[in-house]
Order: sequence, then C-alpha cells, then structure tokens
Amino acid sequence: MHDWTKIIKKTTVADKLSGAVNTPIQLSTTFNQPSFDHFGEFDYARSGNPTRKVAEDAVASLEDARYGFLYSTGMAAISSVLLTFSQGDHLIVSKYVYGGTFRILEQVLNRYGIEHTFVDLGDLDAVRAAIKPNTKAIYIETPSNPILAVADLDALVAIAHEHKLLTIADNTFMSPVLQKPIKHGVDIVVHSATKFLSGHSDILAGAAITDNKELADRIYFIQNAVGATLGVTDSWLLLRGIKTLGIRMQQSSSAALKIATWL
Ligand SMILES: Cc1ncc(COP(=O)(O)O)c(C=O)c1O
Repeated sequence: MHDWTKIIKKTTVADKLSGAVNTPIQLSTTFNQPSFDHFGEFDYARSGNPTRKVAEDAVASLEDARYGFLYSTGMAAISSVLLTFSQGDHLIVSKYVYGGTFRILEQVLNRYGIEHTFVDLGDLDAVRAAIKPNTKAIYIETPSNPILAVADLDALVAIAHEHKLLTIADNTFMSPVLQKPIKHGVDIVVHSATKFLSGHSDILAGAAITDNKELADRIYFIQNAVGATLGVTDSWLLLRGIKTLGIRMQQSSSAALKIATWL
C-alpha cells in the first residue's frame, strides 16, 4: 500500500459501535469484563486503551512494523526503551544524540548501572572499537538533533548483526515517510511524535516501534510498569495530525531544497 493511502487508512479507523469514521476518544479508565475469569482486550487504561491502540497501530504500520507503543513524550518513549536494558549492560550511543537522551544516559541510567559510550557513528572503526563483552545495543539518531549528523543505517546494522547487538534508531527528524529504519534491519524505532508525526505543535508525544515480538513484549512490559502512556485526547490529536504527514513532509522537503539551492 502506498504510504499516503496507508496514512489515511490507518488514522481513519471507523468506530465499530456507531460507524463514526473517526476513532472516538474513549475516556473510560476501566473496562467491563465478559466474566470473572475471562478478560476482554482492555481492562485498565494504563495497560491499554482503544483510542491509544488505534494510534499505536497507525505509527507501527507507518514504520512497516507490527508493534507500536505511545508515550506522554518522546523522552518517555526513549527512557522506557532504555529501561528494557539491565544493570551491567553497555550501549554504544551516537555522540551527537539529542540532549535529553544524553542527559538520561549520563545522569540517570548510569546510576542504575546501564553503561554507555558516546561514539561518532560516522566512524565505523570507532564503533567497532567501542564494542565490549557486555555491549547490548547501538543507539542511532539520524539525522541528529541539532547538528544533523547522518549515520549509515545499513553499515551499523551489519556491525550489530556481526556482534549480536540490537539497534535502536531515533527517526524523529525524517519521519517514516522519508526513512523506515526497520526496512534497513533496525530493531527498535523511537520518535518524538511531538515533531513531524503530530505536526501542529499542540501535543507532546513519543513512540516506540518494533517488528520483533520478543522485543515488543519487553517494551510493553516497561510501558505498563512505568506508566508514561499517551493520554487519549492526545492520541486522537496524534491520529488527526498524522493524516497530513505525507503532504507536510513533501512540502517541507521542497521548501528545504529551494533554500539549499538558493544558499
Ligand atoms: C531527535 C529527538 N529525539 C527525542 C526528543 C525528545 O522528545 P520530547 O520533547 O517529545 O520528549 C527530541 C526533542 O526535541 C528530539 O529532537
């Protein structure tokens, strides 16, 4: 399916009950169950909510993946993914990573024994040299915020596979319309959905996406355990914002090209 068709189909999911073409904002935090022993799809809204679920499926589908998770901010998404690692694990992280990601690694997660080394991911020899026996993942952000450092996803995934490491990519700046890291073999994609995905500077939101069931289970466990989930009104606004993602990225790209050519 072409991306633009997919964008509309996945963000305009009719309500089964009323036939409303847009997903309703479901404010209930608690859901009635068919019986004492058999629970339905939703029981308590931190663990799952129908409005958030449609938006989670939409962001997953845009990244050509099966599992999506939405959070109250991009930093909540990134922190939650990093919390799937354990004391003693080591991560190789782009030295040009977004400041908030730098801060959570440098000032919070290191206190819990999750180690990291910042590396220029453009220097593949330096990446190889930074791998230690306890290295578990390479954390990529391409292009990076704010200096727009670009990393070679294919080359980094090849190194990761050689050493049985996971790869995580922050795809905030490209959006899935311009770059799909999972197609390059990246295991987990994260977003500050506050930016291009929502597109109107009116919500804070974050996303984590994977096509790997085992990783999805780990990410869901932390999403539910930490509880930094995206609220339902913001989930609805995110769905509405994504509807124009294709046209916005096209316009942003053509405006950027005009400015670059003029410069
Ligand atoms: C590349 C990148 N990742 C993550 C974040 C954090 O997202 P949020 O501000 O939604 O927490 C930002 C915010 O500017 C960003 O630019």
